[in-house]
Amino acid sequence: MKARHHRPSGRAATVTSLPMLARYSNTVSRHLSTAAAAVRIAVATRATTSFKLLAGKRKGGESLADDLDGAQDSGCLYVCGLPGTGKTALVRSILSDVAAANFGKRGPRMAFVNCMSASQPRLVFNLVLQALGEKMQPDDVEAEKRLQTLIKDPSQRILIVLDEIDHLLRSRAHQNVLYRLFSWGALSPPASSSGTGNSMGTCGVVGIANSLDLTERFVPLLASKGAAPAVLHFRPFEAKEIMSVVRARLAGLKGRYDVDEDQLREEDDIIVEDGEEPPLPLFVPAALELASKKIAAATGDVRKALDTCRMAIDVVESEQRRLCALDSEEDKKQHLRTFTPSTAPRVTPAHILKVLSAVLGSPQLTKIRSLGLQPKLALLALLVAQKRSAESLSVLGSSSTSSSSSPSSSAESSAAAPTSVTRLADVESTYLTMLKTDGGSFTALERSELLDVYEMLEVQGLVTLSATASSSSPSGNIKRQLKAAAADAVGSRALRLAMGSEDVLKGITTAAPPVGAAAAATATASTAAATSKAVLESIRRIWSVEEARIRRNKGWEGMQGDADEERKRILREELGGGRGAQASF
Ligand SMILES: Nc1ncnc2c1ncn2[C@@H]1O[C@H](COP(=O)(O)OP(=O)(O)OP(=O)(O)O)[C@@H](O)[C@H]1O
Ligand SMILES: [Mg+2]
Repeated sequence: MKARHHRPSGRAATVTSLPMLARYSNTVSRHLSTAAAAVRIAVATRATTSFKLLAGKRKGGESLADDLDGAQDSGCLYVCGLPGTGKTALVRSILSDVAAANFGKRGPRMAFVNCMSASQPRLVFNLVLQALGEKMQPDDVEAEKRLQTLIKDPSQRILIVLDEIDHLLRSRAHQNVLYRLFSWGALSPPASSSGTGNSMGTCGVVGIANSLDLTERFVPLLASKGAAPAVLHFRPFEAKEIMSVVRARLAGLKGRYDVDEDQLREEDDIIVEDGEEPPLPLFVPAALELASKKIAAATGDVRKALDTCRMAIDVVESEQRRLCALDSEEDKKQHLRTFTPSTAPRVTPAHILKVLSAVLGSPQLTKIRSLGLQPKLALLALLVAQKRSAESLSVLGSSSTSSSSSPSSSAESSAAAPTSVTRLADVESTYLTMLKTDGGSFTALERSELLDVYEMLEVQGLVTLSATASSSSPSGNIKRQLKAAAADAVGSRALRLAMGSEDVLKGITTAAPPVGAAAAATATASTAAATSKAVLESIRRIWSVEEARIRRNKGWEGMQGDADEERKRILREELGGGRGAQASF
């Protein structure tokens, strides 16, 4: 089980081990005349290798019009796709190819920035400058100007990659930073017209994001500012592609054994015909096929596929440890080291089935867990609003009185609670108050943006949003009816969770079950893990504050209820318990 010790331990390992990309590095260097060309080659490489879009064709630096949406001549590229579709890995591998091709020469300057790490929008400029190797203070207020000057410098070729730009779209200030950067890219001459001897500075900008709704929101906005990027959608991995990625990773293990390739083939119990795939170490082929098909059908997330395989190997290893009769851990380790590719126990379909449920979870939970911060906050706001309504508490941040403050409305609200329909305006008010209470660590979305988020959640089947005004307004209360009629029609739209609130809470406050230490071992995975960990911690923090507030409010209103009872008791005593008293109570 030596394989266990051959886990990629860093970003470089991850990037260089990309199986299908290495052989394209020549193509990359040949066509690297400008940074914008590098952007194009990134697309070409991706399309040619992983997705086989261009199979058999040689496109090089020619137009990629067939494969890209939008402005093909733009120096900007917007790469989007679901998590684990290889966006970051591909762009990073291109950067390292470009760097390798230009080793010792004056190649383009490249900056890779994960936008999650910018605590304020303007700090993105600082991060870009730092990544370009400029010496500066991390909070230099002149960063934007300095970067602009650098980009305008005719002697510079610059490629800026902004990963996780979802986080730069949450407020106007964030979006402005993106527009600025993309407009610099858009102003650069396209690769075809600039050539190698260009006298103008050239800047290419690649933005990477994974939110499904970003293309619709972001690209038209950029286009309206004259900075339309070319758009490349990464589709989820198919089973065959997943298999080839895992096979390539496993092939890397062979070097870890003290046997040569021929010996390995001899030892392997699988007979290899001409043109067939070489034998798989550590896996029964059917097991890999099963894992690939299941992951492709569920998410197409290659990260999950790799996790499944690592976990399955872990399961086999622990089985071996249990089986081996040796007492000490050191002896057990020694025993495991004696395995060769042919003697090592293999992962079977049964092992894969064992770990798949841990990796995939329920499809709905997986969907919720893969949401970004704002959709999670939106779900949390709806959850809190519904919980408060179920407890007959007032809408957070709204002037509307608590439904439990008057006996009649209390009864109405309790009756309405099980239907769990909430007006968008109430959810928005809850959302804004939640974020305000949290101390403003997150910029709140405006109503129209929040509505966009709920619409996206509706598309995902997580909430339902009525097209028209909510019918849940109490019918007996004329004042409220009038108020509702005067209210914004959008705010009156009814929202409802489309799945159990317990599941929603679990999805937004917990991560997928641990998938082995290996998952955290790759730098890419650890960045993603750190990102989602920060989001999770924020959601948990806000939820615990709101949960405590509900308990507190309930307690207080309970006390109010007790006080009412006490008042009634005194009144009863004063009235002497006669008919009048009975009529009143
Ligand atoms: N073509 C590929 N060949 C081999 N491994 C790959 C390939 N594409 C991605 N991977 C591996 O899959 C994992 C996930 O890829 P990556 O981080 O690039 O996904 P992503 O699309 O950026 O996801 P996210 O949207 O969550 O950031 C990484 O470990 C990466 O090394
Ligand atoms: Mg990524």
